[in-house]
Amino acid sequence: MKTIVVSGIQSSGVLHIGNYFGAMRQHIALQDKHESYYFIVNYHAMTTVRDADALHRHTLDAAVTYLALGFDPEKSNLFVQSDVPELAELTWIFMCLTPVSHLYKSVTYKDKIAQGLSPNSGLLGYPVLQAADILIYGGTLVPVGADQKQHIEMTRNIAQRFNTAYCVDDPIFPVPEPYILDSVAIIPGIDGRKMSKSYGNTIGIFDEGATLKKRIRSIVTDSTPLEDPKDPDSDNVFALIKLFADKDQEAEIREAYVRGGYGYGHAKKRLISMITDYFGEARERRQDLIKHPDYVLDVLREGGRRGREQAKRFMDRVRSATGLMTTYGE
Ligand code: TRP
Repeated sequence: MKTIVVSGIQSSGVLHIGNYFGAMRQHIALQDKHESYYFIVNYHAMTTVRDADALHRHTLDAAVTYLALGFDPEKSNLFVQSDVPELAELTWIFMCLTPVSHLYKSVTYKDKIAQGLSPNSGLLGYPVLQAADILIYGGTLVPVGADQKQHIEMTRNIAQRFNTAYCVDDPIFPVPEPYILDSVAIIPGIDGRKMSKSYGNTIGIFDEGATLKKRIRSIVTDSTPLEDPKDPDSDNVFALIKLFADKDQEAEIREAYVRGGYGYGHAKKRLISMITDYFGEARERRQDLIKHPDYVLDVLREGGRRGREQAKRFMDRVRSATGLMTTYGE
């Protein structure tokens, strides 16, 4: 079976280095190997964002970020989720196949409620929309962060339910596999908890100068004195350094920790310069893209056109398999 890579990109806030190492870097790497569909999930964002300007701005910002980081529109499709409105239809069809008890078991739903978000039905149905997102393009491989494992499990379940209910002999939907890198399962934020926008502990991909310094300086460390040996493996700063360092740099810094005489302040300085260098080129490309919004919109428009074509192929089969009538013709 042909591999089709599908993944959604958050548009509910500024993207951070946890998003980058957890998923975006894998998205960009996979574009070289497979047909792929990446979309900015503005319908999903509506479960929590009520501000139209903010939603619009964040959508474009996510597109600029992807392009700046090396997304290549010649190789892959990047678009806005809502440019494929057939998704809402497929979500409805899947809703009718999904027991509410499954949705109440969703860890992300429980988390969001615990954070005080309003339990609207969109929030509860979030994983169903995500299943539609993946299956409407015939996705077989879904690169995501570790927190999305359950959503992909639910997607697999929904694909099987649909196929069993409507098209056992000639299944319409492939059952997709998650693609989750264990090595980046947990990226700590500045307070040591998992880096997440909702914890307010993120470091933005394009943070620089004084903002970046302030964020890095506030990373929580223990109080081992400067002269004493330190344990790199229990330190948040080192966990972040590992993401940016090559093997030699990592070994060198590890040694300095263990040897002693190397303070957390030193490590933080090193991290600041690593982040600044690592995203340096992307930062320049970003400045350029911000000056050319028409180019960004062209990329999204073309990606959306191709995404919609692919989605329509599946929806024709879905409509016919489910007995939905179309009386108006095309
Ligand atoms: N829920 C995903 C996240 O929080 C985003 C997402 C939406 C997604 N639709 C998707 C991921 C489809 C993979 C495939 O990161």
